[in-house]
Amino acid sequence: MPKAWIQKRKRDYYYRKAKEEKYRSRAAYKLFQAVEKYRFIKEGDVVVDLGAAPGGWIQAARKIVGTAGFVLGVDIKPIEPFSEKNIKTIIGDITEPDTTKQILEMLPRKADAVISDVSPNISGVWELDHARQIDLAQRALEIALETLNPSGNFFVKVFQGEMLNDFISMVKRHFEDVKIIKPKASMAKSSEIFILGMHLKG
Ligand SMILES: C[S@@+](CC[C@H](N)C(=O)[O-])C[C@H]1O[C@@H](n2cnc3c(N)ncnc32)[C@H](O)[C@@H]1O
Repeated sequence: MPKAWIQKRKRDYYYRKAKEEKYRSRAAYKLFQAVEKYRFIKEGDVVVDLGAAPGGWIQAARKIVGTAGFVLGVDIKPIEPFSEKNIKTIIGDITEPDTTKQILEMLPRKADAVISDVSPNISGVWELDHARQIDLAQRALEIALETLNPSGNFFVKVFQGEMLNDFISMVKRHFEDVKIIKPKASMAKSSEIFILGMHLKG
């Protein structure tokens, strides 16, 4: 990694906060901030976290759901195990149909929230990264439709670009209320934003 990038990261407020508070990634604060505003995860909930490695969102979700809830982290890469009994993780590619089956088998009941921070490997070619991200977000939406309980919530990362409006329309077809969110912890210069679909339509 370039030295300048490592130095910049060390100066970053949320990077240092995550280190101090023992979160595995600064991304945890993006989830905390979005949930604080829209309350789409609550105590006792069952949460599926897609693209969960190294596990910052898992920790944040577990803190919100508490001991009565359940968090399942899914990633194509292995996730270091957690000691909490109500956190489970699986290795799975969200583009593979079998992954949905695996998720359903692991859940104690259908999910109250499906959250996705899945990112493709960034190529640096903006249109390509946008298209890949939208493709993964659509796959996350399909998993959400199969694993959420009626009136469940869906929260997903996307990159801004020309395919975004079509994706938002797709989310609107399935959820009562749709919000576009840029949490404070998300870098201002990053094109990432989050789409929240609240209350799956019956
Ligand atoms: C930005 S990171 C997630 C960070 C995580 N939310 C956290 O707080 O620690 C994006 C993750 O998406 C995962 N990913 C990319 N493509 C995937 C796929 N097809 N299926 C599952 N996970 C994928 C990557 O392996 C990576 O760990």
